[in-house]
Amino acid sequence: ALGPRASSAGYRLAAFDQIGSTNTEALERARAGERGPIWFVTSDQTAGHGRRQRAWIAPRGNLAASILEVMDVAPAVAATLGFAAGLAEEAALEKVSLEAALRLGPDRPRYALKWPNDVLVGGKKLVGIGLEAEVVGNNLAVVVGIGTNVVAAPEGTPTPAVSLAALGVQISAEELFAALSDAWVEFRGIWDRGRGFAEIRRLWLARAAGLGEKVAINTGTMTLEGVFDTIDDTGCLIVRTADGRRMPVAAGEVFFGVA
Ligand code: BTN
Repeated sequence: ALGPRASSAGYRLAAFDQIGSTNTEALERARAGERGPIWFVTSDQTAGHGRRQRAWIAPRGNLAASILEVMDVAPAVAATLGFAAGLAEEAALEKVSLEAALRLGPDRPRYALKWPNDVLVGGKKLVGIGLEAEVVGNNLAVVVGIGTNVVAAPEGTPTPAVSLAALGVQISAEELFAALSDAWVEFRGIWDRGRGFAEIRRLWLARAAGLGEKVAINTGTMTLEGVFDTIDDTGCLIVRTADGRRMPVAAGEVFFGVA
């Protein structure tokens, strides 16, 4: 089971054999006075949720992890933590799949970051990251939720999904969490030093899927098409439309391979 040993560097750990949603648990604890920093983790999440109120279905054995930190930051600044989480997750995945990479050679998994906060392999979703925040007192309770398909990709997802097991990476949720919590400390530190988000943004862009390519973005109310130019200093995706305008998009679902 996920045990206390697995946490690192000042972060406490609340591990659960089974729980509805680690994000919901984190927010409830924040309402009850918890200030963090603390991880909520399980390998059996029964009622997780994703961005835009979507269900996040995690078969048993997958990793569900949420970080709670109560901070004195504006919501827009807190949102940029999701990019640090994507980078941490990718670094953790690289570490735990080293052995598989040597064994698989050219067929090894190649991780890429999808705006805003997913990790993809071969265009399929391996990791979903969803932030939630709530005002507590004069501060903001920020919850960064990270869901990784360790043993199985859920079925019926809006975009194609994949699991580490299917990629030939045989590790447990416990091993992945140990690597993730270490990597989080590293990238959280980089984020902290540059509250302006500059360094995280640079690192993230170097690993971004679809940069410079034509994409479609469904914002929920409209679909925009254009070239994925960059992300700005608040994490908005900048799309260059056919008429040359540069439009910032704050939230939406990106589709690649647009002709
Ligand atoms: C998304 O891709 O829409 C975000 C998915 C976020 C899922 C994680 S799993 C751990 C945490 N607990 C939840 O209920 N959701 C997040």
